Amino acid sequence: MSLVTKALVLREKNAIPAVEDFFLPPMRNNQVTVKIHAAALNHRDVWIQQGLYAKIQYPAIVGSDGCGYVSDVAEGVSESLIGQRVIIHPSLMWGDDIKAQSNNFQVLGMPTYGTFAHHCIVDADRVYAAPSYLSDAECAALPLAGLTAWRALMTQGKAQSHHKVLITGIGGGVALCAAQFALALGAEVWVTSGSQDKITMAQHLGAKGGILYSEPDFGKSLMKSMGGFDIIVDGTGGETFNHALEAIKPGGTIVIYGATAGTPSNVNIHRIFWKQVHIIGSTMGNDNDFAEMLAFVSQHRIKPIIAKTFLLEQGAEAFRYLQSGAQTGKVVLLMENM
Ligand SMILES: NC(=O)c1ccc[n+]([C@@H]2O[C@H](COP(=O)([O-])OP(=O)(O)OC[C@H]3O[C@@H](n4cnc5c(N)ncnc54)[C@H](OP(=O)(O)O)[C@@H]3O)[C@@H](O)[C@H]2O)c1
Repeated sequence: MSLVTKALVLREKNAIPAVEDFFLPPMRNNQVTVKIHAAALNHRDVWIQQGLYAKIQYPAIVGSDGCGYVSDVAEGVSESLIGQRVIIHPSLMWGDDIKAQSNNFQVLGMPTYGTFAHHCIVDADRVYAAPSYLSDAECAALPLAGLTAWRALMTQGKAQSHHKVLITGIGGGVALCAAQFALALGAEVWVTSGSQDKITMAQHLGAKGGILYSEPDFGKSLMKSMGGFDIIVDGTGGETFNHALEAIKPGGTIVIYGATAGTPSNVNIHRIFWKQVHIIGSTMGNDNDFAEMLAFVSQHRIKPIIAKTFLLEQGAEAFRYLQSGAQTGKVVLLMENM
């Protein structure tokens, strides 16, 4: 039976997301319905709203992050799941190769209907027990950013406690998670940001220091002042990449998970081979990454940082806020005034 739910629907490119009653298709075998309590925005949702994403299908209900309670199960799923508080793993159809995702890989929330709705239908193996010490909003803030940060820092970057780690654009959701994980690991963490206040906030979390990415030659300055990094985790791209090549130690690793500032106009190839730099791409994560990330977060009692919460009905405002870059941490949508 199909289900009518309140959802924040994108009807076309650049349309203002608005809440409407939406018919979800019926659950297939081995699926569950989650009554969403909280969902979180990622930059991906804004790219889709702006039509800047591959293969966009409308109408779209975006939202890759969600926490809620299982309200119904389809054939093949134990009814004991009903009523459980769960967090949703947003990587769909990763495939069998732990090194990279399959061609069928998708992220929850377009083309599948995502979490910016009162209900979301997912395969039963996408729901995990929500860490009990986290609120619904904190749980919702974790999955996509936490998973991306975990794979970039730990699986690909192989961070260890004796490493010096630079995290770029610390105001970002993924960057903040990466900083929290690196700090919990015992690594020495440095950050870049467009805002001195965000650098100060990172220092309060435990970061050793930071530098404004608006400063010319910030990569060289970092190399001079603190001797370079073993690992740089970057979601910025653009000219940051050349600064990273200056700031990385010989033999160090630059992990790239995003390109908010686009592609650099030129790349200092000489730095790459002379410094024997490892450059690794990273996208989301597989089921191992997700389970390891959840276990680490629970072990260290890490709480995702929430910049601001909005009600689902204020979704358009939440999109604008994320786009403005004013946030430090995750932007969360609550389904009811909780
Ligand atoms: N590969 C994947 O699986 C994956 C997963 C998630 C995200 N991503 C990508 O990673 C990027 C970050 O995602 P997010 O959701 O964490 O985004 P976000 O929360 O919107 O944060 C983006 C951050 O980037 C920094 N930034 C913006 N313009 C910059 C510039 N010109 N130079 C340097 N830094 C700049 C800002 O840091 P400050 O506020 O500190 O200035 C901003 O807070 C996006 O491009 C996203 O598409 C990829």
